[in-house]
Amino acid sequence: MKQIIDVELNTRKVDFSRCKTDMLAVGLFSDVKELDRLNKELNDKLSGAIEQLIRLGDFKGKEGTNAIVYGNDQIGAKRVLLVGLGEKKKPPVKLGAKYLAPRFTRGSLDMVRKATANAVKKSVEVKAETISLALHKAFGGRFDLSAMGQACGEGTYFGSYRYDEFVTDSEDGRLDSLKVELIDPDSTKIRKLTKGLAKGVIIGKAQSYARTLANRPANVINPAKLAAIAKELARGSKRLSCTVFDEKQLAAKGMGGVLAVGSGSQNKPRFIVLKYSPASRAASSRPTVGLVGKAITFDSGGISIKPAAHMDEMKLDKSGGISVLGTMKAVAELALPINVYGIIPSAENLPSGTSFRPGDIINTFSGKTVEVQNTDAEGRLILCDALSYAVKQECDVIIEIASLTGACVVALGKYMAGLMGNDDKLIKQLQRASEDSGEKVWPMPSGDEYAEEIKSKIADLKNVGSRWGGACTAAAFLRQFVDDKKWAHLDIAGVWSFDKATEFTTEGASGFGVRLMTTYLINLTNKKKK
Ligand code: BES
Ligand code: MN
Ligand code: ZN
Repeated sequence: MKQIIDVELNTRKVDFSRCKTDMLAVGLFSDVKELDRLNKELNDKLSGAIEQLIRLGDFKGKEGTNAIVYGNDQIGAKRVLLVGLGEKKKPPVKLGAKYLAPRFTRGSLDMVRKATANAVKKSVEVKAETISLALHKAFGGRFDLSAMGQACGEGTYFGSYRYDEFVTDSEDGRLDSLKVELIDPDSTKIRKLTKGLAKGVIIGKAQSYARTLANRPANVINPAKLAAIAKELARGSKRLSCTVFDEKQLAAKGMGGVLAVGSGSQNKPRFIVLKYSPASRAASSRPTVGLVGKAITFDSGGISIKPAAHMDEMKLDKSGGISVLGTMKAVAELALPINVYGIIPSAENLPSGTSFRPGDIINTFSGKTVEVQNTDAEGRLILCDALSYAVKQECDVIIEIASLTGACVVALGKYMAGLMGNDDKLIKQLQRASEDSGEKVWPMPSGDEYAEEIKSKIADLKNVGSRWGGACTAAAFLRQFVDDKKWAHLDIAGVWSFDKATEFTTEGASGFGVRLMTTYLINLTNKKKK
């Protein structure tokens, strides 16, 4: 089968104008009138071509735009790609108490990540095989060079990603591989960029891995296949181990939620547990983190079947679990000094003669009983067992990620994930990780009012609330299963995919959560105390 585009990333100490490359990418802001030193040098050598492009109004430096200027014998590059960085004057993002400001429109490292993605996407489109990035130059001392190196690594994977493993037409002629380098004439700068780039490559790769798995349809990935993939991942790392419970073990353990949801399909459910144990003893001073991800390999709705339109998109309903898988891969490769569990309940939600039904009462792993009012509210039924399992493993912090509700998409659109939880500090840490990673989240409630709505008359809980606030009642349901643990919930129903290609990446699965959760974990390991 066709592999996704292979990316090789390096740094190189070289003069910008001498650098031999298919594409030299430089950044320009929309609100800066004068060319900076690097752009002025290139402009002079290109007999004023950059200035002319700007004067004619063909390029304005807007975020998400770019323009090509062709090289000449004065410079090494065949093409110079001007990449729009948007406004320079935006104040930097600051973590403050007030959360109502449109902080995400402010300047952050995501400018570097997006500019890289845009440049690399363009390079793939014009089939430039080697691309040299000098985007960090435009930012001067605004960001740490190592952090910019990381953002460039992540952006490169994000922008070059294509999902076409089942497109047999070789005539589409896309590149098989791409060489990307971060360049600078200063070896101190190169050293810093290289340090960050190594992290960015690991995280970027892990996200592309997640995107490919999420994009694969339900006839290719079912719960047992997903379990096999998790086992394979664990085989590749000394510090990862993987345990899988099949349907018999699920029954023995009393995981009635996962079993009920999986009961309608011939593809039996699985419960996947990855465990990362770091080499470093420093980990004992840090919390054990449980990452819990919903992996419904296809969500037809079950007996409460969904309408036909767009039902195909429900192959993406495994996205949360797959983000957990991608994050575990990154954690292992980064060798982070922290204990992490990846807990992935997986089932296929189909209607059949063996399906669970509306009205059924199920016994969950926690001992709590749940009245099923709608078989399409299946995510919370598999997640409640997984949350109880995380509590049992004594995770101090649980981060759970799921494409849980259409209501969350109604509330936030396809730009941000809903963020709920029971611990203010954890919420703040995730908001911080969101700023650092560029994966946006927005806080939403899940407290007592919502919990009232999911009380049942004939069982402990029911699996749906009223017509209103569906994202919040879903989270309130999950909250009942986390005991006294610190817990956060990410509803990624809106952000799991791009409906169309953007200036930064292709359409399809986004791999949302890999950057966010990995960054959260990196940040935790950057400080000492619990
Ligand atoms: N997987 C869906 C949520 C979803 C909906 C994701 C749209 C992406 C786009 C989930 O299992 C679901 O069906 N939720 C129901 C819950 C309802 C029955 C209470 C929903 O949101 O309609
Ligand atoms: Mn559903
Ligand atoms: Zn679902």
